[in-house]
Amino acid sequence: MKWTGRALLVVLLLALGYYTKAYIAISGRKSKVYTVKPVKLDIPTDSATIAMGKRLVTTKGCTDCHEKDLGGKVLFEQKGLGRLVARNLTKGKGGVSKDFDTDDWVRAIRHGVQQDGTPLIYMPSAGFNQLSETDLKAVIAYCEQVAPVDREVPACDIGVGATILADLGELELFEAEKIDHNAALPLAIREGVTADFGKYVSQICTGCHKPDMKGTPGDGGTPNISSTGPSARWTDEQFFQTLRTGKRPDGSELKAPMPWQMTAAFSDTEMRALRVYLKSI
Ligand code: HEC
Ligand code: HEC
Repeated sequence: MKWTGRALLVVLLLALGYYTKAYIAISGRKSKVYTVKPVKLDIPTDSATIAMGKRLVTTKGCTDCHEKDLGGKVLFEQKGLGRLVARNLTKGKGGVSKDFDTDDWVRAIRHGVQQDGTPLIYMPSAGFNQLSETDLKAVIAYCEQVAPVDREVPACDIGVGATILADLGELELFEAEKIDHNAALPLAIREGVTADFGKYVSQICTGCHKPDMKGTPGDGGTPNISSTGPSARWTDEQFFQTLRTGKRPDGSELKAPMPWQMTAAFSDTEMRALRVYLKSI
């Protein structure tokens, strides 16, 4: 009994020691200040640009997390693990953009960083860093004029579980860490059924399916959607249908967090270009 007790105590102390180390590491990463120079943009206010922005906030996934009205929502909450919350982006009560200027939008979208330079949690900016100037302006133009929503959502909270997962590299919390903050802003992208445009469309898939589109193996991972994955063997029509309906050719459903409501809004050109690109890699 004595020895079992001692062994338990040792295990407990080791666990506590590890947690302290993880906690200090994550706190450091969370409070790191990034010095980014947001590109200077003039945001158009014409109705064509706003209509384009309205489509983009769906096809780039913003509305999946921030809600259709952009008023924000709790994405995940579990005792012991933590809470992930997409902020209210409107100018309503509880909204962040009341005192935003264009730089603040650019900082958040392209760099994953907030006004004080510290990283946003779980905001997938690495997939938005290479949005073209035209697209980025349209997104901001739409967000700026969207109807105010009064919704006070709680703040993100990195709990014990999330701290450990993030420290082990199992959970990516700070996309600012993987962004090249000096990367140039691409101008307009030529739309067409080409691998180049497909690659552009696929940037928002890289956070989960990884830049090589080979996914992450194992339980709870993401599938390989490159030319060597199972979906490459589907017909083009089956591939489009899956991403439009959330149902695979065999009838099984695409489970969360696969954001198929986002891909369902893709234009024909975007879908076809994406297919060409994925089959080429
Ligand atoms: C995977 C979910 C997800 C997607 C997709 C997403 N966001 Fe976010 N976003 C978040 C979360 C979570 C936060 C809050 C981060 C925090 O509290 O640290 C956030 C925060 C923000 C902020 C607040 C910045 C600040 O300084 O307060 C802005 C602006 C923003 N997102 C814009 C966008 C836009 C525009 C898009 C689409 C181009 C988008 N987001 C897509 C999850 C997401
Ligand atoms: C937030 C993470 C996330 C993002 C972003 C994402 N996916 Fe997925 N995707 C998943 C997950 C998880 C699955 C597996 C779902 C399941 O198990 O049913 C999946 C499944 C798929 C499948 C089915 C593959 C198969 O073999 O069954 C395709 C095709 C796919 N995704 C394409 C895309 C494309 C294209 C994009 C970008 C436009 C994208 N995904 C963005 C997480 C994501």
